[in-house]
Amino acid sequence: MPQPPNDLSKMFIPDECRFTPSRGFEVDAYRRAVLDNGIALISFENKADADGTVMKKIVDRLGIAAVHDRDGTSVWDVKYDESVDQENGTRSLTTKEFRLHTDGSFEVPPPTFVALYCVEPDQLGGGETLFVDGNKIRPLLSPATLKVLLEHDFEIKVPEEFFKGHNSVMARVLNARGSFRFRKDLLKLDNCAPHLVQAVEELDQLINSDSQTKGIQLSKGQMVIFDNARFFHGRRKIEDQRRHLKRMWFHI
Ligand SMILES: [Fe+2]
Repeated sequence: MPQPPNDLSKMFIPDECRFTPSRGFEVDAYRRAVLDNGIALISFENKADADGTVMKKIVDRLGIAAVHDRDGTSVWDVKYDESVDQENGTRSLTTKEFRLHTDGSFEVPPPTFVALYCVEPDQLGGGETLFVDGNKIRPLLSPATLKVLLEHDFEIKVPEEFFKGHNSVMARVLNARGSFRFRKDLLKLDNCAPHLVQAVEELDQLINSDSQTKGIQLSKGQMVIFDNARFFHGRRKIEDQRRHLKRMWFHI
């Protein structure tokens, strides 16, 4: 499938993890791609269903969907909503940029995989999806920061829309298996010692530096699946209010 001219995704999505289904789904190959390389890109030729049915079918065959909220929602819309407070409301319903993060850092356990499916791309050049491979980030962190991230339990706030009985959880940003859970704006840092805050800042600066982030402008009908404990993701500010992604969290 022809890629847009600004597609730099080949830098982090190898050829064996890119799929253009023509005769049915190759679910075993998608599974192998996300387990071995942490990421897969599936491109349906410029077609997208607004319900995310295709995404749900694939995710249901890959693993077990996780719910986002108390209502049991498993397919979540990431789309501008004019009724939502653009400063303080649910951020997936705003046009704001997202700094690099992992999803559901406040969940117990966090979702192991995330699927993003593009129903409507941003036609005005905004909303680029950004990735950073945590495997490449770990060796770049200072020993002092690594020690803090591996050994200190941080308090992570649960956003209101995801409340399921707890206002916050205690967890490490990095575990011994190399899995990250990190969304800086949800960490309660007010009463943390300076060296703890500094460790969080170092990680945040590193994953948000232009030299580390790689972007992809998802086109209509493209679906990216990634290991949520390995790939940090984010997005640039949305320019086109019609831009619409569907998101699922799941476990394999
Ligand atoms: Fe996210």
